Amino acid sequence: MPKIKPSHDLQPFHTFGTSATAEFLAEAGTIEDVIELSEHATAEQLKLTILGGGSNVLFTKDVRGLVLLNRITGIDLVGEDDHHFYVRAGAGEVWHDFVEKCISEGWAGVENLALIPGMVGASPMQNIGAYGIEIESVFDHLIAVHLPTGELHQFDKRDCQFGYRESVFKRKFKGQYVICYVQYKLRKKPDFNTSYGAIQQELEKQGVSDLSLRAVADAVIAIRQSKLPDPKEIGNAGSFFKNPVVDQDTFNAIAEEHPELPNYPAPKGKVKLAAGWLIDQSGWKGFREGDFGVHDRQALVLVNHGNAHGREIFDLSKRILKDVEEKFGVKLEREVNIL
Ligand code: FAD
Ligand code: EPU
Repeated sequence: MPKIKPSHDLQPFHTFGTSATAEFLAEAGTIEDVIELSEHATAEQLKLTILGGGSNVLFTKDVRGLVLLNRITGIDLVGEDDHHFYVRAGAGEVWHDFVEKCISEGWAGVENLALIPGMVGASPMQNIGAYGIEIESVFDHLIAVHLPTGELHQFDKRDCQFGYRESVFKRKFKGQYVICYVQYKLRKKPDFNTSYGAIQQELEKQGVSDLSLRAVADAVIAIRQSKLPDPKEIGNAGSFFKNPVVDQDTFNAIAEEHPELPNYPAPKGKVKLAAGWLIDQSGWKGFREGDFGVHDRQALVLVNHGNAHGREIFDLSKRILKDVEEKFGVKLEREVNIL
């Protein structure tokens, strides 16, 4: 059984850098560790909270029960066919290290997702996405421990019910599974996607004429570094809200007054708007009060300048929600998991 540490500081284990304490904390390095810890939590009636890299959570209070840090490692090529490599990764592998390994091995499909913080295990949780790619496009299946029974269950792509920043693990099965391994189906021949945002521009700036996995990842890394705050320097969890999907009438009403409104086509004739633009236009960009605020280069990112409390950041998110709804009639939804 892994060591269970009482009353443990959580600050080093998440990227907002706010202070919070776990009643108990333990690391799981294997599936057996996960099962033993979950049995222990059930026997002792402790609530179990799973954490990977802590880059998509906001602690608003101390955590009662047991925090399980998933540290299952390993990246293995487990099969191939004419067009694909099948690669299995432990949930506790750092996501960007996994991307780097894929680039060096020539396994294509995750290069646009370079530099997303966090770990492999969380990648299907919210179907991570950036620069025109979502994880579902390379997802094969995952293996997870079902907490109520301790059984191992396999989830194929359809079972995960992926959507924009969504999966079954955030909805119907919330809190019921610990993801232990994720298998990806990566391409032998790259299918480069450079049409999104500023990738093409960045490639030109870097003088790239021959596309490669390395060149695309480097362009994405450069764009990300120019826009998003590094959590090592300033506490944050990336986009705090999702980009809202609205109906055509709502879009038309806003666009009439603001023709420059950034928008993207969404399924069922709906329109996705840029939450960062809505928050920016509501006057919040660069806002600071005490140590909490809104990033000055990307209004979708709420930040901790030092000693902010999670509760202060949560309350700020409520003020922003209210303001955007009053100004534009659009209700934002938080993307970060509030604990
Ligand atoms: P955590 O924060 O540890 O956990 C997130 C949620 O998943 C929690 O509910 C947790 O309980 C659950 N969870 C974690 N691991 C497991 C597991 N093994 N089994 C079951 N449940 C689990 N996201 C994007 O999609 N695109 C981006 O471009 C992007 N950019 C970001 C930029 C910055 C600067 C930051 C700080 C964050 C960004 N994010 C982005 C958000 C974040 O990186 C992703 O959501 C990432 O997948 C979170 O991984 P994590 O291991 O840190 O998860
Ligand atoms: N914008 C503003 N002001 C701002 C911020 C953005 O006007 O303060 C405008 C931009 O000019 C642009 C539009 O809003 O026209 C979109 O901005 P950006 O390209 O920076 O992307 P985003 O929609 O804000 C999304 C994801 C990011 C992901 C990028 C790149 C969500 C919630 N966020 O951001 O994901 O990296 O696209 O694909 O979908 C995350 O999930 O944590 C995350 C960072």
